Amino acid sequence: MSRSILILASGTGSLAQAIIVATQSGEISGNVIGVLTDQPDAQVVAKCAVLEIPIITHPMSSDRKSWDAELFLIAQSLNPSLVVSAGFMRILAPEFVSTFKVINSHPALLPKFPGAHAVRDALAAKASVTGATIHWVDSGIDTGKVIAQQEVQVLADDTEAVLHERIKIVERGLIVATISDLLASMENTDE
Ligand code: GRF
Repeated sequence: MSRSILILASGTGSLAQAIIVATQSGEISGNVIGVLTDQPDAQVVAKCAVLEIPIITHPMSSDRKSWDAELFLIAQSLNPSLVVSAGFMRILAPEFVSTFKVINSHPALLPKFPGAHAVRDALAAKASVTGATIHWVDSGIDTGKVIAQQEVQVLADDTEAVLHERIKIVERGLIVATISDLLASMENTDE
């Protein structure tokens, strides 16, 4: 049975691209049914067009409850095996994360430096090592169970942008490997 992935992304989409390419090459045994974004002008939209992956735009509205409810209905209609938050800068509603299997990639070694400014916070704390974490998403902010982590050294002359790019290289490898393992373990539990 083929497993389907719904990606949520808000930014440049390099993680989304790595996941899509891995499904297209067979490194991940599953398919990306679509990429949902809250940012219609984000670079991820153009990347999906090139990769011929459906993009679903769901811009934030002033009515957050309706936005959450619509997001739930979109995901429900797509019925994904796995939802992957890959640079999606929105907190997901409790009902969403308790209904769907959702993982997230975070640019720090959780529980260190949760939140939206993980790379900046690691530099401000003068950490010598930070890294990448793939974790299950629960209703908290970056509090779900850790699935995989990998360290990245902080260098003396690192800026936030330079360090983040180095972490993102690690995130791309880690998210692809994690999705591959998770989908394979789902296959194994099928009857
Ligand atoms: C990643 O570092 C992710 O962990 C963070 O945003 C970045 C997304 O990068 N939340 P991209 O948009 O996939 O290039």
